[in-house]
Amino acid sequence: MAPGSLISGLLLSLAVTSVVSQSNLPDVPPGVFNVSARIEIQSNTSIAWETLNNFPGYPDWNPFVRSSIAVSLNNVTLPEQRPALNRRLILRTQIPPLPLPVNRNTPDNPLNTQFAYENVTLVDPVLFRLAWAYAVPTAGTFEGVRYQALSDIGNGKILYESREVFHGPLANVLRALMEANLQKSFEGQAAGLKLFLESK
Ligand SMILES: *[C@@H]1O[C@H](CO)[C@@H](O)[C@H](O)[C@H]1NC(C)=O
Ligand SMILES: *[C@@H]1O[C@H](CO)[C@@H](O)[C@H](O)[C@H]1NC(C)=O
Ligand SMILES: *[C@@H]1O[C@H](CO)[C@@H](O)[C@H](O)[C@H]1NC(C)=O
Ligand SMILES: *[C@@H]1O[C@H](CO)[C@@H](O)[C@H](O)[C@H]1NC(C)=O
Repeated sequence: MAPGSLISGLLLSLAVTSVVSQSNLPDVPPGVFNVSARIEIQSNTSIAWETLNNFPGYPDWNPFVRSSIAVSLNNVTLPEQRPALNRRLILRTQIPPLPLPVNRNTPDNPLNTQFAYENVTLVDPVLFRLAWAYAVPTAGTFEGVRYQALSDIGNGKILYESREVFHGPLANVLRALMEANLQKSFEGQAAGLKLFLESK
């Protein structure tokens, strides 16, 4: 093999390795279990960030979180329907997710509908990271922080990632009941975001 092709082969494998291992999710301590998804999307970070922050648009594309409503501490719907630090959210979810594609008229599967009351813990429009966590103290049961992150990976593509690590004495119960379907919901949201952004 010519030295040139050896070097370009080496560079290629380095480039492949770095895309595969690249992540914009923060490092967090391991818990009892986690669910996660990552997907490459032909899009840009500005429209993808706007899509993740625009709660009223969720029903148009999201097969997992069918609605996210930002509320005051008294549970009154806020005028600004976007995540902000320390803001409470009421999520209506499908676990497992609805089949894709979805739009705002797609009915829920009532057997798979669950509600979650969350507290926004991170909104970083520079690093393109969002996070929320269960707002009702679940200490003594289980806890989880759900992170989402975007990164520009070049060639007109972005990487969307999400991950939730579960902790606490009852996390194993949650795992037995929900891990497989929660994992499908995380993957469903990633696939729904891709479908939506790539059709724009
Ligand atoms: C998530 O789970 C996988 C598989 O068990 C594990 O390898 C990974 O370290 C976990 N990640 C985090 C952040 O806990
Ligand atoms: C991002 O993508 C959207 C939708 O395709 C497009 O309208 C917008 O101009 C793009 N923005 C940038 C900064 O590339
Ligand atoms: C707001 O709604 C959540 C979820 O239903 C509930 O846990 C919480 O107690 C409510 N807060 C108030 C002040 O009513
Ligand atoms: C909500 O998140 C903020 C920001 O991390 C934190 O300061 C606050 O204590 C949290 N509130 C609850 C009820 O978890």
